[in-house]
Amino acid sequence: MNKRVGIFVSGGGSNMRALVEDMDASHPATPIVVVSNKADAGGIAWAKDAGLATVVVDHRPFGKDRAGFEAAISEALDPFELDLICLAGFMRVLTAGFVTPWRGRMLNIHPSLLPKYRGLHTHARALEAGDTEHGCTVHLVTPELDDGPILGQARVPVRPGDTPDDLAARVLQQEHILYPAVLRRFASGDRTPLLL
Ligand code: GRF
Repeated sequence: MNKRVGIFVSGGGSNMRALVEDMDASHPATPIVVVSNKADAGGIAWAKDAGLATVVVDHRPFGKDRAGFEAAISEALDPFELDLICLAGFMRVLTAGFVTPWRGRMLNIHPSLLPKYRGLHTHARALEAGDTEHGCTVHLVTPELDDGPILGQARVPVRPGDTPDDLAARVLQQEHILYPAVLRRFASGDRTPLLL
């Protein structure tokens, strides 16, 4: 049976679009709902236009109460009976309370060749380190930030004179190839890492 997928975004949602556009009739998964902590996320507008269900839970009223924020998301997601969650530029850290029940069923894309550069500003950090190669990683989400088992990686060259924005754009193109390819394999039960 097709896997029911929820996709979490905070921004423009270009990875979410790449995932949704890949989920055609031949795909072992179906996009069910797009979730955001920001009502004005570009990804939410696109998802509505595409006829997908959307859920917005603003994190701000919860302040430091991460458990409360996560409980609100869980409650809103319940009726959708999801099999998988894909984090796609979701910029809130999820705690063990949310992550643990989804262990093995929640994916994330991170713009670095993990285990290098967990967290933010990955492109600037790769440039500062003088790396000649950079890229992106799709991994299973565990309670430790950007640390779960790797499901796929795509590499790009770092070119002389690159700015963080140049590098971000080059990596993002690969993200749009890698994430859909990994989701296809994963949803059909293949967890062998995909190396592009
Ligand atoms: C991507 O680079 C993703 O890896 C990072 O945030 C960016 C999101 O871009 N975590 P988009 O919203 O998918 O366009």
